[in-house]
Amino acid sequence: MTDSGYSSEQQAPPPGCPAHAGAVRLGGLQYQQTPSQLYRAMRREHGPVAPVLLDGGIPAWLVLGYSEVTYVTSHDELFARDSRRWNQWEHIPQDWPLLPFVGYQPSVLFTEGEEHQRRAGVITEALEGVDQFELARDCELIADDLIARFAGSGQAELMADYAHALPMRAVVQMCGMPTSGEDTSRLVDDLRISLDASEGDDPVAAYGRVGERLRQLVKDKRAAPGPDVTSRMLTHPAGLTDEEVVQDLISVIAAAQQPTANWICNTLRLLLTDARFAVNVSGGRLSVGEALNEVLWLDTPTQNFIGRWAVRDVQLGGRQIRAGDCLVLGLAAANTDPQIWPESHVGAENAAHLSFSNGEHRCPYPAPLLADVMARTAVETLLERLPDLVLAVEPEELTWRPSIWMRGLSALPVRFTPVVQ
Ligand code: HEM
Repeated sequence: MTDSGYSSEQQAPPPGCPAHAGAVRLGGLQYQQTPSQLYRAMRREHGPVAPVLLDGGIPAWLVLGYSEVTYVTSHDELFARDSRRWNQWEHIPQDWPLLPFVGYQPSVLFTEGEEHQRRAGVITEALEGVDQFELARDCELIADDLIARFAGSGQAELMADYAHALPMRAVVQMCGMPTSGEDTSRLVDDLRISLDASEGDDPVAAYGRVGERLRQLVKDKRAAPGPDVTSRMLTHPAGLTDEEVVQDLISVIAAAQQPTANWICNTLRLLLTDARFAVNVSGGRLSVGEALNEVLWLDTPTQNFIGRWAVRDVQLGGRQIRAGDCLVLGLAAANTDPQIWPESHVGAENAAHLSFSNGEHRCPYPAPLLADVMARTAVETLLERLPDLVLAVEPEELTWRPSIWMRGLSALPVRFTPVVQ
């Protein structure tokens, strides 16, 4: 471990990969420090494109620079999404924990060119049919229901009791599923396991169960369409097959759930721990908007995204990338790149961050707007209903989950004056 807070692997490089001598083992990173410090240290040592080792010592590149991430995401002809071109497949075991993210699926995520435009176009139009005012109202109802469950006790753990549940229920409702019930909570659990498995979980099995549940939903909606995202995808003139809709629904729900939940929690943490926001919270809604935006710059949920695969040999950030190499998009690192920010100014009011990525595969319009409605309503409703909400622990006792992919808290315990219903 270096004093910059991360470990560099000093062992022999993986087979066939001389560029990865001294690569950074991503699993060993120090998540408790601020990501900006962590990534600045990596950039100092390795430059804007760092050789890294994923789980099991599998080599990849972490793209840390703002202009390099922008370049990679806007040049699909050089850095593409179909992971089958990866030159490491022969080293990947069947139970590799990152398989749910990286293993090729015939979904929008892995399509390219015209096929991607067709699939992403259907998602965009299906999401455009969501009325933002109705969504805000639905989120407020969900928020009230969740708050009512703990309001009388004067305490809550907001990650589990609120931030995770709210976007999940909003998204399943958007897709035409019941918002509560055992079926839905099982789906929520399976999504959590498949996206960010804890020790002892089986992410591959959980991912299989998510597919089964959505296959049933598609069957139901084919028989009886309604005013929901699933039905709009099924009846879209592009004529997607049932299986294509299932695959893309998995992408939509998975892509919406974890990032929005962590966006809510990271924003609540900022509001509850930072004096700049504390003085304003009860008085103005503007500060919630500022906090939401600051989190996207400084504590963005999708801090690293895997990824892109090099189409051919190419130079990037002074590195020789070989055809088939995997690149991880370092979105958090790019957002705090000293090339775009002098140290003291990170977290501006503009929205030029890369938290929703960039280019052809970026989080599809209008998903960021819908996520903003969910997150804003979740935060505002909570603060309105429980105006004297405070942290139940010291700020430095809060811990971040040890994930290199999602930046989110392990727990956010709070207390407040109990509300008698
Ligand atoms: C309503 C909530 C959301 C929905 C429905 C949604 C949907 C999607 C979908 C379908 C994709 C795949 C796009 C493609 O491959 O063409 C995607 C990608 C992505 N989304 Fe979202 N998303 C939501 C919220 C968020 C939030 C809150 C964040 C982070 C703050 C986020 C960050 C991303 C990122 C980083 C990608 C990867 C883009 C890439 O490959 O370059 N999304 N999203």
